[in-house]
Amino acid sequence: MNANSSNLSHPKQNENSSDFSTDVSNLNHPEKNSSSPSQQMWGGRFSEATDSFVAAFTASVGFDQRFARHDIEGSIAHATMLGECDILTKSEVATIIDGLEQVLAEIELGEFNWSIELEDVHMNVESRLTDIIGAVGKKLHTGRSRNDQVATDIRLWLREETDNIIALLVRLQTGLLNLAEQHTDTIMPGFTHLQTAQPVSFGHHVMAWFEMLYRDTERLVDARRRINQLPLGSAALAGTTFPIDRTITAELLGFEGICQNSLDAVSDRDFAIEFTSAASILMMHLSRMSEEIILWMSAQFDFVQIPDRFCTGSSIMPQKKNPDVPELVRGKAARVFGQLMTLLSLMKSQPLAYNKDNQEDKEPLFDCVDTLTGSLLAFGDMLPNITPNKENMRAATMKGYATATDLADYLVRNGVAFRDAHEVVGNAVALGIKEGVDLSDLSLAQLQQFSAAIGTDVFEYLTLEGSLAARDHLGGTAPNQVKQAIARGRTRLEVFA
Ligand code: ARG
Repeated sequence: MNANSSNLSHPKQNENSSDFSTDVSNLNHPEKNSSSPSQQMWGGRFSEATDSFVAAFTASVGFDQRFARHDIEGSIAHATMLGECDILTKSEVATIIDGLEQVLAEIELGEFNWSIELEDVHMNVESRLTDIIGAVGKKLHTGRSRNDQVATDIRLWLREETDNIIALLVRLQTGLLNLAEQHTDTIMPGFTHLQTAQPVSFGHHVMAWFEMLYRDTERLVDARRRINQLPLGSAALAGTTFPIDRTITAELLGFEGICQNSLDAVSDRDFAIEFTSAASILMMHLSRMSEEIILWMSAQFDFVQIPDRFCTGSSIMPQKKNPDVPELVRGKAARVFGQLMTLLSLMKSQPLAYNKDNQEDKEPLFDCVDTLTGSLLAFGDMLPNITPNKENMRAATMKGYATATDLADYLVRNGVAFRDAHEVVGNAVALGIKEGVDLSDLSLAQLQQFSAAIGTDVFEYLTLEGSLAARDHLGGTAPNQVKQAIARGRTRLEVFA
């Protein structure tokens, strides 16, 4: 499960080339396709050619060519299985595999001539195979249908993309562990209702992000198990009359299981919905982190700096440094949520088994994967490189009576009931506000007028360091606990490596 470095520096683009998109002139002026019906792979029972508008409208090759490598990988495994089961001869299989490798080479060199008349990636590849190796190429489709073929392609492709995304998540989480490690003792205000609540360690805050991303990673790892099941062998919907062995194909393609029902295997896209749903939760988390960075970068907070390379300026206001990357990631979350709704709506009420509706599953899924990959690449570079303005964070923590709870807890330890302690501290805070000072700046005499249970040792508990150190249990913000959480985080991350 490692993202190779070329993937990391060059996020995959949607290879939706305009060459293959619907031609507007065709849309406006439908006319008969020049090819005769029998030239189509399925043309045998047709008496007139497909309308050229319909051909362009129903074609998916403009986008599903993105599966070419996986389609060929699946075909090689299928042909190998047909050979093992004596459905094709060994020499036929060898010829087919050679031919498929040649087709792949042409595609990778950009020399392949994609044709919209051949509808989709599957028929484009198969047709070119037959051009190259002759009639034996026509035997490849024995015991298979485009319905189980496309379901297999999507799963092979999504499995690879999921691994890449998991690797990007691990990279980001490693960056956060490193950042947290530098700041276990950096103090900032913790908020509830976006009002200063209690002092926390900045490292503790960063580790909260780590935990969110950790669960996202677990969700993707879990979804991967259900992505990684073999549909091939289901054929159109009912299975095939040939004596195939699906365990061979599954093993060759690295699937950890075999879809157990042919009708279900060719029709359901729940694995893609599950992926997009995990992706949506992840983007929701990234949008929360984005929002905090954006707030913290404002002049009003002035808590962090992010490197200039992640920001842009304003064409009119020379002083501006805008947090474009986090803003864009916050916005892109909306896109991924939208793709989740698209896929759910696409699948809703579809009767068994395959329906052409499912051709619409690809673009939302591609967009979801590309958006996620881009956002994680950006965050993996940016987030570990933020620099907290320690002085400003500390000054902000001093402003909001963040140690009020510590004073209440101190009174409780000295025998005061919590509700009474709450009242005493409320009075002390009111005095602090009146005098314009923090609780720790009030004199012992001033504090003691509210409760006789206050002694000279109270000031240890009113300092920010004392407040943090006191929350010394698993999950608490004491720097010593944050250090342990980071160490555990490193070990826990190893399971995804
Ligand atoms: N391009 C189609 C898709 O993406 C492939 C399967 C087509 N099957 C069919 N019977 N028309 O779903």
